[in-house]
Amino acid sequence: MSNQLTDENIMAALGQVKDPEIGRDLVSLGMIKSIEITGSTVDLTVELTTPACPLKAKIESDIVDGLAALGASTVRVEWASNVKRSFGGPAADLIPGVKNTIAVASGKGGVGKTTVAVNLAVSLARDGARVGLLDADITGPNVPLMMGTTGSHVTGVGGRVNPVVAHGVKMMSIQYFLTGDAPVIWRGPLIHSAIQQFLRDVEWGELDYLVVDLPPGTGDAVLSLSQLIPLSGAVIVTTPQEVSLVDARKAIKMFEKVNVRTLGVVENMSGFICPDCGAEHDIFGSGGAESLAREFGFDVLARIPLEPGVRTGGDAGVPITSSQHPAAETSRAGAALRELGRTVAGRISVIAAPFAAAGTAGRPN
Ligand SMILES: Nc1ncnc2c1ncn2[C@@H]1O[C@H](COP(=O)(O)OP(=O)(O)OP(=O)(O)O)[C@@H](O)[C@H]1O
Ligand SMILES: [Mg+2]
Repeated sequence: MSNQLTDENIMAALGQVKDPEIGRDLVSLGMIKSIEITGSTVDLTVELTTPACPLKAKIESDIVDGLAALGASTVRVEWASNVKRSFGGPAADLIPGVKNTIAVASGKGGVGKTTVAVNLAVSLARDGARVGLLDADITGPNVPLMMGTTGSHVTGVGGRVNPVVAHGVKMMSIQYFLTGDAPVIWRGPLIHSAIQQFLRDVEWGELDYLVVDLPPGTGDAVLSLSQLIPLSGAVIVTTPQEVSLVDARKAIKMFEKVNVRTLGVVENMSGFICPDCGAEHDIFGSGGAESLAREFGFDVLARIPLEPGVRTGGDAGVPITSSQHPAAETSRAGAALRELGRTVAGRISVIAAPFAAAGTAGRPN
């Protein structure tokens, strides 16, 4: 039986194992980096399209099943990752080291965009990705507060600016240029040039994902930001009630207008778990995001419950997904946000696959 364990047979068997998200086999995707056969033991290195792979366990069990059929008694898989680029165009040249950009948006204010953006970034970083977070909310920058960096200021030389780093994420916000709480009352053109500088002049280095926290609304300001920043896709945040859903619909249509793909919808404040009785209460209703997603043919990427720890984490600058948050291991909202990171990473891998196949994926790693 074990004489079937040859490189050729193993490659043929792995050619039958599909990356469930991308829908193509591991061999044609170039994911098998090495094979070592020692008796009936096989050691493999498999290169994933993201370190935050949502379907790693499924891929591993399919590999083990496939090789067991050839007589392998032990299969050891070592995981590597190579995140591919999923956007192009002239504006992409402003951030040559950035592989993917994900906007977090909503039509309505206060629904949890910054909370989702911050936790999405921290989740991806905790899974081993290189992550940046761009606070594109120039007049209401909240990223520094939620990441515990309100006291940080930019440093740099020769016109280049270093990002501020916390919770494993590189960040840039207008707040890092200001002293005190004076409001920013800039209008369109100044905001435009600030964002351009954030893209062009910040030392982002190599990033797998740059998460962009957009300001609320669907007016001219947000519309022009969505055109200015080269985007792989957008995550739309809504709460379950109708007023938020109506505005989320507007946001989706705005992105359609500027040819930015919507990755899906996040329903935030989706049910409240009573800390006293443990029962779940739908304070803002339920099912709204589901019907919105169905209307446009998207998925609900995550449902994040309303939980005091999310708010206290935001106020204290320790996101619920950070290992430093006291409820990191127990919070249901935290678990949903960790899962959101993997789901979004999976979606991005699917988008990047045709770019990589067409040889338009920027530079090799
Ligand atoms: N799931 C949640 N559970 C508890 N509190 C939450 C949750 N999501 C957001 N919050 C809290 O709600 C408030 C508003 O959230 P956040 O600032 O993220 O919204 P936003 O959409 O970015 O607002 P803006 O439109 O002003 O930019 C914050 O205090 C945040 O901590
Ligand atoms: Mg915000």
